[in-house]
Amino acid sequence: MKAQSQHKPSHPHSEKLVNRDLLPHERAQWEDRIPGLPKIALTPSELSDLRLISNGGYSPIEGFMNQKDYLTVVQDMRLASGAIWSLPVTLAVNDTQAASLKTGKEVALTDTSGQPLAILELEEMYRYEKQLEAEQVYRTTDTSHPGVQNLYARADTLLGGKISMIRDFPDTSFQKYRLSPAQTRRLFQEKGWRTVVGFQTRNPIHRAHEYIQKCALEMVDALFVHPLVGETKKGDIPADVRMRCYEVLIDGYYPKDRTLLGIFPAAMRYAGPREAVFHALIRKNYGCTHFIVGRDHAGVGNFYGPFDAHKIFGEFEEGELGIKPLFFDNTFYCKRCESMASHRTCPHDPWNYVFLSGTKVREMLREGIAPPPEFTRPEVAEILIAASNNDGHQPVAPKSSTPSEKTETPS
Ligand code: ADX
Repeated sequence: MKAQSQHKPSHPHSEKLVNRDLLPHERAQWEDRIPGLPKIALTPSELSDLRLISNGGYSPIEGFMNQKDYLTVVQDMRLASGAIWSLPVTLAVNDTQAASLKTGKEVALTDTSGQPLAILELEEMYRYEKQLEAEQVYRTTDTSHPGVQNLYARADTLLGGKISMIRDFPDTSFQKYRLSPAQTRRLFQEKGWRTVVGFQTRNPIHRAHEYIQKCALEMVDALFVHPLVGETKKGDIPADVRMRCYEVLIDGYYPKDRTLLGIFPAAMRYAGPREAVFHALIRKNYGCTHFIVGRDHAGVGNFYGPFDAHKIFGEFEEGELGIKPLFFDNTFYCKRCESMASHRTCPHDPWNYVFLSGTKVREMLREGIAPPPEFTRPEVAEILIAASNNDGHQPVAPKSSTPSEKTETPS
């Protein structure tokens, strides 16, 4: 089945894509004024938000949220305008910093080294409602949840107002893959792709990921692999290692004329269902018409049910979201079927499945043991083993494992 003719090219989540980059002559005008402005150094995750506000990934958002937007997003998953938006985009400062600022004035936003990057037109300062946000957005106040832990570790006052970029971000890593929403939209058009499915990931792409991507690719024109490269929690595989894995995998196993790799500069919140909606809306801004939501999307530990991230989409009217979520059940390799499968397609018992927990995979990689090819492509395993041995450059020849001795069954 093909879906090309059923879908119009995706519109952004606003009338047009936001672009908060000042023109060169406007930037030049700021240079003399910057030394006289109060400065706020952004955290890595606030810098990720700054990138996505300025490049239109967060359209229609043009700055850090004012109180009204913040509260309606937290409580109702909507901006004050009524548009769907599921996660707050906020800038926090401590009491001393707050005391040095005045609403109605400009503030220079700097990177962690103190280099000014953007101007904030400070409209509001207001109280961070951390408990409310934890309960509503993360559905827990348990500080063992990494997103909740980050939330409680932040300063207590929020600054609201539009931003404008006065300099480029100095970090140019993964430059080739640093595509803005305007660039991906143009590329999709040039390639004649009318339907594009977006894929979010913070992990190396294992066979289960590959399977759901390819199931989707059977129905749409193209696949946009869009790994998140902003801050992730300790223990997650670093973005540079993952990027090498994506490259070898796409090179060896994906159709070049129907696959695009680009980086998603956001930080991970681990907010499960709320983050799935957020991820979908942003991929709509990047030009995708479809978005993959699999098992426990953006989840962590056992904080969310495996399909809570599917259910949340039922809270919106069909069409209101403007991007079609493609839901996938838990997928795995089944030895009886001799193929990738899911509970929807496979009648066999779990002991036939090749499934590894994240902990088990990490343990194997540290020991130089490649996960079975039914779980991870050998080329990907090789990169992961080399990285976990900490040399990153000298691939260790992987020892093989057989599925029967090294695999677990999903509970
Ligand atoms: S996430 O935090 O970015 O969602 P991950 O990179 O593991 O984590 O997942 C990327 C996408 O693949 C998500 O949509 C997730 O739900 C889906 N996914 C991961 N593993 C499976 C699986 N075994 N079966 C079905 N979907 C999966």
